[in-house]
Amino acid sequence: MTTPANPNDAALGASAAHAALAARLAPMAPTPGHELTLRVVPMPADSNANGDIFGGWIMAQVDIAGAILPARIARGRIATVAVNQFVFKQPVSVGDLLSFFARVERIGTTSITVNVEVYAERNPGELQVVKVTEANLTYVAIDAHGQPRPIPRD
Ligand SMILES: CC(C)(COP(=O)(O)OP(=O)(O)OC[C@H]1O[C@@H](n2cnc3c(N)ncnc32)[C@H](O)[C@@H]1OP(=O)(O)O)[C@@H](O)C(=O)NCCC(=O)NCCS
Repeated sequence: MTTPANPNDAALGASAAHAALAARLAPMAPTPGHELTLRVVPMPADSNANGDIFGGWIMAQVDIAGAILPARIARGRIATVAVNQFVFKQPVSVGDLLSFFARVERIGTTSITVNVEVYAERNPGELQVVKVTEANLTYVAIDAHGQPRPIPRD
């Protein structure tokens, strides 16, 4: 085992590796205000007949990722009332590491609208980061009877 001549060398090597990784991840720059709400790797069972990941599976993950912030703000049950916009910008492949970033766009009387951006990290040997999906969804706070209830303001 070799020991670095300068004890700081190991730390410098780690920080250089970290900086290089940060540079490779730079394309994964969500619009300001978005926060990471979900990371997941699709499996072969999530594929469609073309071998790409099934769009319905991606929509389900976006629905889950989009609900995180509204559920916190509504402090209780919510239901998805609308998918206002959904764009599949690039195909997703088995083994991609998907990161979902969400931002609250609007808080209404009983509803919360969220924007979700999805990035794929692929090919770890020569890392690529691609924005694959963007969506806009509205969730409604509901009471025990499934009826809309006001979003708490305090
Ligand atoms: C969600 C649900 C309770 C809303 O009931 P509703 O009687 O339609 O409610 P309202 O018409 O009063 O609308 C409630 C809010 O949703 C918003 N909304 C309703 N339809 C919308 C649409 N198509 N797009 C965006 N927002 C919509 C309204 O603007 C309102 O927001 P606000 O109070 O902030 O102004 C009812 O539609 C429902 O149960 N839908 C099924 C939900 C579901 O099963 N989702 C899938 C699984 S989570």
